[in-house]
Amino acid sequence: MQKLLINGKKELFGKISISGSKNATLPILAASILSNKIKLKNIPLVKDIFTMIELLKSIGLKITILKKKNILNIRNIDQNIKTVAPYKLVKTMRAGVLVLGPLLARYKTAKISLPGGCAIGTRPVDLHLFALKKLGAKIRIKNGYIIAEAKSGLKGTKITFPNISVGATENAILAAFKAKGKTILNNCAIEPEIQNLILFLNNLGGNIKIIGRKIIIPNCKNIKKDVTHKVIFDRIELGTYMIAAALIGKKVKFKNVDTRIVKNDIQLLKKMGIKMISKKSSIEIFKSKNIKKINIETRPYPGFATDLQAQLMVLMTQAKGISKIKENIFENRFMHVPELKRMGANIKISNKTAIIKGPTKLTGAEVMATDLRASVSLVLAALIADNRTIINRIYHLDRGYEYLEKKLKNCKARIKRI
Ligand code: EPZ
Repeated sequence: MQKLLINGKKELFGKISISGSKNATLPILAASILSNKIKLKNIPLVKDIFTMIELLKSIGLKITILKKKNILNIRNIDQNIKTVAPYKLVKTMRAGVLVLGPLLARYKTAKISLPGGCAIGTRPVDLHLFALKKLGAKIRIKNGYIIAEAKSGLKGTKITFPNISVGATENAILAAFKAKGKTILNNCAIEPEIQNLILFLNNLGGNIKIIGRKIIIPNCKNIKKDVTHKVIFDRIELGTYMIAAALIGKKVKFKNVDTRIVKNDIQLLKKMGIKMISKKSSIEIFKSKNIKKINIETRPYPGFATDLQAQLMVLMTQAKGISKIKENIFENRFMHVPELKRMGANIKISNKTAIIKGPTKLTGAEVMATDLRASVSLVLAALIADNRTIINRIYHLDRGYEYLEKKLKNCKARIKRI
């Protein structure tokens, strides 16, 4: 198993280019089932994307990857389509469940493995199934699979989600896209990744509108056969590296970003005393001395992203005083805490809130990654820790961070994969 070896305390200096968003690419890949010929640009070449590509190929789509240019060409010639998402693929990449909506929309039937849980929580799909049933799908669970049918097609309707869910919102949009009549979804997730999915679907011929947390999806009569789409940048990757720069950056510049999308993250870091210049499509972060404590809770967008919680916690270990971070989205997303404590962090947890006392000196240790974002918080801690840190199970990192070592090495970090 590969490991990462990091020698800490080396200031970061240089530029980091942000990749396309994994969490926008995944639903857009699922949506490509609905069309015939798609070209996707700015694709992040990370493990989860390759798993989704494998799933789409097993369904029967033809996909070519132009790795050098981060471009995917996808064709659906409607031959030998298998409307199945097998356990072996969905268990490693939960977002495989997102093919359920488009398969039902186009082929009126689907057999999708239940994704099962992961390190951060049980990850149920009840809200996905709730929405699809409202759209007229007949759904039953058998031998760990979701068996879904919509013999006479799906029918548009009004749906109010009892709780906000990114994946369930995406699955409902994808199913409603070809349903008869109009669908109105209330209490939706409106993450930038969902907004990018909607932009893609509207490029396909849709006329989807977002008003607050309401999403209106008229039936798309004729889906364009040949569409090109550039995937939005990854705001979680950007937030991760902004925090790295806040922790130990001398001067780090981020380009090809849209700072309107991350304006709340920018405000948050400024409130913590981080020095930066942010323009429309670039951000520059400078060495910041007195990092201020802060209290924050994770919330659906535009609230503070749960996917940045572990990373911000590392910054809080360097803030003067007591900081608090409450995790409202997932039931078990503090797996990074014991590992950070082994590196010297002073963190206590009491009912979903982490209480972090800073500033504390971190020292290198051998640690273990558990989920994608917990893993990267260990990388951040290692960058500021004394001497050497070894991070095990870094396959978690490879699921969502493209060229992580290369990007950090380009900014002078002492990091290598062994
Ligand atoms: C998406 O997961 C992201 N994944 C996650 O990023 C992200 O953490 C999460 O949204 C929240 O922002 C992708 O986009 C591929 P949810 P998703 O449905 O859709 C509960 C990463 O690191 N829930 O918004 O699975 C659920 O258990 C990943 O890139 C139900 O109860 O998240 C959770 O507590 C990790 N029933 C909460 O809702 C359901 O049917 C939010 O989950 C669905 C979800």
